[in-house]
Amino acid sequence: MSANNALHIAVLAGDGIGPEVMAPALEILRKIEAKSDLKFRFTEAPAGANHYRETGRSMPDSTIRLCEEADAILLGACGLPSVRYPDNTEIMPQVELRFHFDLYAGVRPARLIPGVPSPIVGADRHGIDLVVIRESTEGLFASMGKGVVTHEEARETLVITRKTSERLFAFSFRLAERRKARGRLDGGLTCVDKANVFKAFAFFREMFDEAAARHPDVKTDRLYVDACSAMLVKRPWDFDVMVMENMFGDILSDMTAGLIGGMGMAPSADIGDRYAVFQPCHGTAPDIMGQGKANPTGMILSAAMMLDWLADKHGLESAAEAGETIERAVDKAYAGGIKPTEFGGSNGTADIAKAVLAAL
Ligand SMILES: NC(=O)c1ccc[n+]([C@@H]2O[C@H](COP(=O)([O-])OP(=O)(O)OC[C@H]3O[C@@H](n4cnc5c(N)ncnc54)[C@H](O)[C@@H]3O)[C@@H](O)[C@H]2O)c1
Repeated sequence: MSANNALHIAVLAGDGIGPEVMAPALEILRKIEAKSDLKFRFTEAPAGANHYRETGRSMPDSTIRLCEEADAILLGACGLPSVRYPDNTEIMPQVELRFHFDLYAGVRPARLIPGVPSPIVGADRHGIDLVVIRESTEGLFASMGKGVVTHEEARETLVITRKTSERLFAFSFRLAERRKARGRLDGGLTCVDKANVFKAFAFFREMFDEAAARHPDVKTDRLYVDACSAMLVKRPWDFDVMVMENMFGDILSDMTAGLIGGMGMAPSADIGDRYAVFQPCHGTAPDIMGQGKANPTGMILSAAMMLDWLADKHGLESAAEAGETIERAVDKAYAGGIKPTEFGGSNGTADIAKAVLAAL
């Protein structure tokens, strides 16, 4: 933390709708600052496809240094399908940051806000409140940039290590315990894998079982990813915390975002032992950029997750309260009838931001 007790936040708005959703999130944090004893210092820095187009790099060294110095990192979204490396893959500083800062726990909450329509029958009665924890530094993504492609075949290698898995499970059990302490009494932790087919996932599950034995207070379950996908769309309310390999988490967390209204609703955090990046689950949405349609809710809720993490890290009770205040303000905005264009309503970025600010 800076000498004057201000929390230093690195702000990487990125490309497409990234800057459009970042602006309201910062406005809300400034209002929190005015209402509490928290102080923020925001420093903006470049990253993404537009920066690559101008300089040939996904982000400058100065952005990495800023992130190293900051207390937390807020990121909008990066990448544009039309801007690519010579090997035809996309510019993804958001993924590079996960590797650089060893952000192994990708935390993707999916909570259905009352008043928001879910495509799942019964969700309005049962509610949805689950968290996908996606391992974010290895799994199939360990192969990023290293795949071997010949004219005849292509190979990518999946990596699961004991070091990362043990930290991932320790993090997941702690989250399940914290949610139980906050009132989620019927919850627990589910390990999602493909241990019936692949040795790497049998290894993953074995380490999960070892961690489970160390946490007898948390109810645990083990599911294969295919069966789990079907259960998630039939009875998402049966799930609390779920932990899984990188690629499975990449896919299932987009699906759980769909269960709660759409990509624009879902926040996320990439957390390591020391650093953390907070960003919405969605990408840069080139199809709606510049039209004022982007839903900033996921970005705003990611800022709330940042406050909760800072509270836990520095013992700042007022930051935890501020995070909850933001969540309640978002709920109040939706209870007041806000309906994003994303699910057929008429409210764009400005309306949603205004409603949340008013509810604060
Ligand atoms: N974390 C990140 O920075 C991140 C994540 C995913 C994709 N990307 C990049 O974003 C670009 C577009 O990817 P994509 O189209 O697969 O995914 P996307 O999440 O950008 O868009 C998918 C769909 O969801 C809609 N959507 C997304 N966010 C929304 C919001 N806040 N409000 C309303 N609607 C929203 C879009 O309009 C689009 O129809 C690609 O270049 C991709 O690499 C970046």
